[in-house]
Amino acid sequence: MMNMACGNFYFLLLLVIFCISRNIVVDGKLSPKFYSSSCPNALTIVNEGVLEAINKEARVGASILRLHFHDCFVNGCDGSILLDDTTTFQSEKTAAPNNNSARGFEVVDNIKAKLEKACPGVVSCADILAIISRDAVVHYGGPTWKVRLGRRDSLTANRSAANAFIPGPSFNLINLTTNFAQFGLSTKDMVVLSGGHTIGLARCATFRSHIHNDTNINTAFAKSLQQKCPQSGNNNVLQPLDYQTKYRFDVKYYQNLVANKGLLHSDQQLYNGDKRADSLVKKYAMDQCRFFNDFAKSMLRMGNIKPLTGSNGEIRRNCRKPN
Ligand code: HEM
Ligand SMILES: *[C@@H]1O[C@H](CO)[C@@H](O)[C@H](O)[C@H]1NC(C)=O
Ligand SMILES: *[C@@H]1O[C@H](CO)[C@@H](O)[C@H](O)[C@H]1NC(C)=O
Ligand SMILES: *[C@@H]1O[C@H](CO)[C@@H](O)[C@H](O)[C@H]1NC(C)=O
Ligand SMILES: *[C@@H]1O[C@H](CO)[C@@H](O)[C@H](O)[C@H]1NC(C)=O
Repeated sequence: MMNMACGNFYFLLLLVIFCISRNIVVDGKLSPKFYSSSCPNALTIVNEGVLEAINKEARVGASILRLHFHDCFVNGCDGSILLDDTTTFQSEKTAAPNNNSARGFEVVDNIKAKLEKACPGVVSCADILAIISRDAVVHYGGPTWKVRLGRRDSLTANRSAANAFIPGPSFNLINLTTNFAQFGLSTKDMVVLSGGHTIGLARCATFRSHIHNDTNINTAFAKSLQQKCPQSGNNNVLQPLDYQTKYRFDVKYYQNLVANKGLLHSDQQLYNGDKRADSLVKKYAMDQCRFFNDFAKSMLRMGNIKPLTGSNGEIRRNCRKPN
């Protein structure tokens, strides 16, 4: 099943050996079987919810993948992005990178409601984000992986931390590398996780200066985008991050970068003359198998950022508010 492009026996064998060794070595506290006795249908319930949601709206799987990323980069993968404002804290939803941009919260709510019926108080909102991201990537034709589970939910959110830690589209390569390094993620993790931009859409406001003022962009590509996203106005006009296949998880994103057809300034920074990043982009552009395997590994690493475990945090009953 996994990665049809990699369907060669020796490769699969190596992959199996690699995966087994990973299970032993990495990931300390989280485990793929965390709910296997406390909520045996959890993964099925989540998967059904994801498929239902994407069948209703093709884009929403991209949106929920982004939610997991924006959750993990703010005090770890603790479901903090899902909390609404309270009298004691301001939500991360309204931080600059998320306001009028982060979406898919109802998908999480619907799945959480079903999980609460099946196994009340058991499955955390932070874990739901990790599982739905994997399921969405698989749905769009990407790789699969065994999601590590057992994260607990935060009691608070922090808007200023969301503003401080979520990287923005104006970032240059050094900014991006430094930002990811804060979470123990390498340049390679950063380049491969940026491949998440093989699906989904971005607002004009986020790519305007790249298409009007940057020089490392294909001229015809820039011109056609300038029609849709002029120097001012049309802030919320949407364009695909991967102009070729916006709802297909493939290597077109990297091929676009090699052709100077990245949509965001930050995307094109990954292929802009720095040898190390350029060579990774070129490799992924030519090798879907490598992209898929590295993406799965890096998603596990991102999903491992500072989880709350043991008696820290709680299992929220409603992902939007602390119990
Ligand atoms: C490397 C640094 C990154 C930057 C600077 C960045 C920036 C952005 C921006 C500006 C948008 C458009 C937001 C809007 O229009 O409101 C976006 C969308 C998106 N990002 Fe990223 N991103 C980064 C990394 C990632 C990662 C690591 C993932 C997941 C693995 C990801 C997944 C997505 C997805 C799927 C969308 C489309 C969401 C939708 O259609 O609703 N991004 N990103
Ligand atoms: C979020 O966006 C809304 C609507 O555009 C705006 O009214 C509000 O001030 C923004 N919130 C923050 C915290 O910037
Ligand atoms: C929220 O995050 C900011 C920026 O990282 C930090 O300075 C502040 O102490 C945090 N607030 C709380 C209540 O943790
Ligand atoms: C990005 O890097 C530039 C220099 O390369 C630096 O001046 C700027 O402060 C950095 N921005 C962020 C948000 O780290
Ligand atoms: C592009 O640069 C010009 C000249 O510096 C500036 O006036 C304009 O606002 C910039 N446009 C965007 C979209 O950043």
